[in-house]
This record gives sequence, C-alpha cells and structure tokens, in this order.
Amino acid sequence: MAEKFKLGFIGAGFIARFQAVALRMVRDAELAGVCALKGAEELAAFAKETGVGDCKVFPNIAELCNHCDAVAVFVPNYVRLDIIGAVVDAVKKGANLKGIICEKPLGRTVAEAKEIVRLGQDAGVPTAYFENQIHMKTVKAALKQLERVQRAMGPLSLVRSSEEHGGPHEPWFWDPTRQGGGVLSDMACHSIAVNWFALTPPEKPINFMKPVAVNAETALLKWGQPVYRKQLLERTGVDYAKTPAEDFATGIVTFQNPETGQKVKGQFTNSWMFDKQGLRLYMDGLGPGYAFEINSLRSPLEIFIADAAAEAVANAEQALEKATATRGLLPVQPNEADLYGYVDELEDAVASFRAGRDAKLTWEYGCEITKLCQAAYMSAERKKTIDLTDPEVQKELDHYTSLIAQGKGAEVLL
Ligand SMILES: NC(=O)c1ccc[n+]([C@@H]2O[C@H](COP(=O)([O-])OP(=O)(O)OC[C@H]3O[C@@H](n4cnc5c(N)ncnc54)[C@H](O)[C@@H]3O)[C@@H](O)[C@H]2O)c1
Repeated sequence: MAEKFKLGFIGAGFIARFQAVALRMVRDAELAGVCALKGAEELAAFAKETGVGDCKVFPNIAELCNHCDAVAVFVPNYVRLDIIGAVVDAVKKGANLKGIICEKPLGRTVAEAKEIVRLGQDAGVPTAYFENQIHMKTVKAALKQLERVQRAMGPLSLVRSSEEHGGPHEPWFWDPTRQGGGVLSDMACHSIAVNWFALTPPEKPINFMKPVAVNAETALLKWGQPVYRKQLLERTGVDYAKTPAEDFATGIVTFQNPETGQKVKGQFTNSWMFDKQGLRLYMDGLGPGYAFEINSLRSPLEIFIADAAAEAVANAEQALEKATATRGLLPVQPNEADLYGYVDELEDAVASFRAGRDAKLTWEYGCEITKLCQAAYMSAERKKTIDLTDPEVQKELDHYTSLIAQGKGAEVLL
C-alpha cells in the first residue's frame, strides 16, 4: 500500500475541523500538520484522537510546507492572499509540494482572485479550488441518473440552487470590508457554481457553458432591523447601521451553449436570515420531461424533543450545522461531512495531486466564480442586467469592488 498522502492545514477554525472529520473517510491521506493563529493544538489533538493523522503543530507556514505533500488554505478571506503568498515563497525556497488547496471564495474581488491565480502559476504547483457542493454525492448521482435522459430529451434548462442559514459563526464573516461582502460573496459562490455545473451537458468540460448575463438583487431583510442590528453589534462588533452587508441575495445567471446557441438559466438564492432547523442546501433542476430535487434538510432520521426534555440539554449543533433549536422535530444528518461533499472534494484533490495534476476545480475556475459573484453585485448596485459578452464590462469587472465591500453598503441597502 502506498504511503499516506500528508496534508497540512493552514487555519484551524470551522472549516478545518469539518475537513478533518471528512479526512477520516479518505482512504490514503492523513492530516500531518497544522499552522494557525488559534485552534491548532485543539485540531491536532482531535486528529490524533480520531485517527485522522499524527498531526503536528507548526509555528510557521514554511515549516508546515516542508513537512507535507500538499497544504490547504483554510484562513479567513482577508488574509488569503498573504497566506498563499507565503506558501508560494516556501515552494520557491524548496518545499516539495504536490498541490495547494484554496477554499471558496477564491478572492473578494476579481483583482484579488486573479492575483491568487497568478501566484499559483508562479509556484508551478497543481491547484484545487474547494467548492464542495459540486462534489456532493446527491448532485453527482442526480446528473448520472439523468445522463441518458438528457441525451434523449435535451439538456436541463433551469437549475435553482440555494444555501441558507441563520448567519455565520465568526465576526469577520459579517464585516463586509474583511469578508468581501455579505451572503452573496460568502454563499452565492456555492449556488452559482453548482448551477453552472448542473447545467453543463454530460461529458462537457466544467467551463463549457458560457456565462453571458447576470441579473441580481441584494437586500438586508433581517439584520438591519434595529433589534437584530443591536444583537449583531453586541455579538460581533459589526455595526450594520454604518457598514451593512446583504443578508439576502438572489439572481439569475444566463449561460449559452457554444455549440447549439441554446440559452439556459441558473437561479441562485442565498440568505443569512433562514430561521429554520439549520443549514439548508436546496437544488432543483428542470429539463424537458424530467426533473431532480435535493433538499439537505430531508433526512431519514428525525428526532423529537419535548420542552421538558429540552430543558436538560442545549446541543442543537449536534443535529445539524447552524442548527438553532434544541426541541421540536429535528432532522438529524449523521454524516454531514459526506453529505455536503467535503469527503469527495478531498478524495479528488488527493488523487489528482498524487497523479501530478490539478484537481477537478482549479484556481482559474474559482476566479470565474468570483467574477460571476462580482457581476451580481454590480447588477444589484446598478439595477440592471450585466452583459458579460461586452469586453468593456469584462475590463470594468477586473477593477471593481462593490460598494458593500467598500463599507458603503448603506448606499444600496438602507
Ligand atoms: N466550503 C464551505 O462550506 C465553507 C464553510 C465555512 C468556511 N469556508 C471558507 O473557509 C475559510 C475559513 O473559514 P472558517 O469558517 O474556518 O473561519 P474561522 O474564523 O472559523 O477560522 C479561521 C482560522 O484561520 C486562522 N487564521 C486567521 N488568520 C490567520 C493567519 N494570518 N495565519 C494563520 N492562521 C490564521 C484562525 O486562527 C482560525 O484557526 C473562509 O474562506 C470561508 O469562506 C468554507
């Protein structure tokens, strides 16, 4: 049996922990090291206890890179560029990395995403852009099942995706100047990507369908209300009276098939004001004579907890990511790391890096997703459809930072 592939994590927060859980289900890889400002010792201990790997804590990125086959960048968006710069420096100084992984969103602006792509090319190392929803087993199974139907009847013409929950865990997500915006930057990147993927005809490359237009709206529906604004300020230090971000975004990306000319639509809806049982990923697709639907809140397991029993415990997140209730009827997903696609995206990255090639989703692909998200901000700000076939628009997007990300969200949201 081949030696285990040694992964190193930079960052030890929410997603690093989730990925460590997922790594337990990846056969030939281990968590060999971690480097983070906070949480590294705890993550290393968790990895050892659960058999994910003999994980060591490294004091800096260079040393981590020298001890791993590949590293995954799981740090907040506002330090992403510096951290990837440090990884690339380590490679140039001799670290023998076979791959670098970067979480979504690749950049907070197109300029930042392009710089990350340039850094990856400069390092000359294969890359993986982590967009877990494309790797979801349910998404892959739906498309596999419909492969022959699509050929017989014609392709899917409308896919609708949404990711929604009640709001992120860490203060930096809420601060549009550090995060890059609100829920559109944070979560529409998932839904736009999964729409594009599902709308791609069987066996065509991931970027085969050409995005030609984007129309979107952003709004602040819950967290701008005085009572919730106050709660948010107390909890996170972010003041939505001064620097608001959107807690709701919706829009349509139109794609065109370059061979047939057919136009199809991907509709996205994302919110941080979804006060239901917990995180919900919802996707549905419609083609002539067929359809699919995925709803991550549907589980074969439901648990009921009455008020009297709930008083004894307060363990909502044991049932589901971002769960907000401890009583009533709770859907429970016993294997969220697999359900959301983290296991499959890790497997793909490890297998690709072992073979000396990019993962299924590259940083160049991630940059295209950043561009679609930024075009959505532009559309919402200008209240018009953005024509992606116009070379002037493409040039403008290269230098565009949304008003919300500039801290001027009051001009669009309030
Ligand atoms: N794919 C998904 O479903 C998903 C889910 C959550 C987060 N994410 C992405 O993952 C990234 C991290 O999010 P998170 O929720 O884990 O954040 P987090 O705040 O929970 O954790 C961030 C980690 O990075 C560390 N860190 C911060 N600055 C650092 C620096 N300069 N050097 C080294 N370590 C540093 C922190 O100490 C912490 O350990 C974000 O880009 C986010 O968009 C993706």
